[in-house]
Amino acid sequence: MERIDKILASQGIGSRKEVHALLRQGRVTVGDRVVRTADFKADAGAQTICVDGKPLIYRRYMYIMMNKPQGVISATDDPRQTTVVDMIGPPLRRKGLFPVGRLDKDTEGLLIITDDGDYAHRVLSPRKGIFKWYEATVDGPVGEAEIKAFREGIVFEDGTQCLPAGLSLIRDGEQPVALVRIQEGKFHQVKKMFRAVDRTVLALRRIRIGELLLDPELAPGEYREMTDAEKDFVFSAQKQV
Ligand code: URA
Repeated sequence: MERIDKILASQGIGSRKEVHALLRQGRVTVGDRVVRTADFKADAGAQTICVDGKPLIYRRYMYIMMNKPQGVISATDDPRQTTVVDMIGPPLRRKGLFPVGRLDKDTEGLLIITDDGDYAHRVLSPRKGIFKWYEATVDGPVGEAEIKAFREGIVFEDGTQCLPAGLSLIRDGEQPVALVRIQEGKFHQVKKMFRAVDRTVLALRRIRIGELLLDPELAPGEYREMTDAEKDFVFSAQKQV
C-alpha cells in the first residue's frame, strides 16, 4: 500500500503539486470511491485507480523503444537542445526517464528509454557481451581487409584496443552499406573504427540490441512501450562475433 499522491506522481500523472490539485478537484477514484486526500493508501497492483475516469495502467518501471531521429541528443535534459526524453509525451512520460547508452546526435535508430537503473546497467555492462548492431553507410569499399581488421579488434589512434567486432557487407556501391556488430560502447565507437581503416561513416543507424530488433513500424521520432518479452530479448545475446 502506498500513498495515492506518490503513486500518481510516480506514473507521470503530474508533479506532487499537480496531483494534489487533481485530488482536491475530485478527479481521482480508487475502486468506486472518489479520493480527495493525498495520504490515502492504495494498492496500485490490485485496485483500479482512475483519473478523470481513465484507468491508470500501473508500471513500476517504464521501458520505451524509440526510433531515435537525427538531430536530437541522447540525454535527459539540456538547456539548448532537444533530448530524446523531451520527445516522450503522455501517457508514457514520467519523471526519471533516461536513455540507455548514447547514440550520437546524427545517429538514428534503436534506443531504449527507461527509469530502471538496474536494467540499464545490465544492458550496458561490457561483461554481458551484448551485441549492438548498426547499419553504417561509408565512403569506400568494405572488403576482406576491413572485415579482418574488425574481427581482430581495431586499435584507435590513441592506442585504445577494441574487442573483436563483426563486419559484413549489406549493399555494395559507391557508398556501401555495412552491418557492424560491437559488444561495447566506446564514445563514437563505430565511426572511429571505420576511421581506423580509412573510411568515413556517412550515416549510422542502430537496428538491434541483443535479440531486440528495432520495430520497423516506428518511423524516426516515434516510440512505444516495450513488451515484457522485448525487455528480455536484449539479454538473449549471441555470443559469437
Ligand atoms: N558508434 C558511433 O560512432 N556513434 C553512435 O552513435 C553509436 C556507435
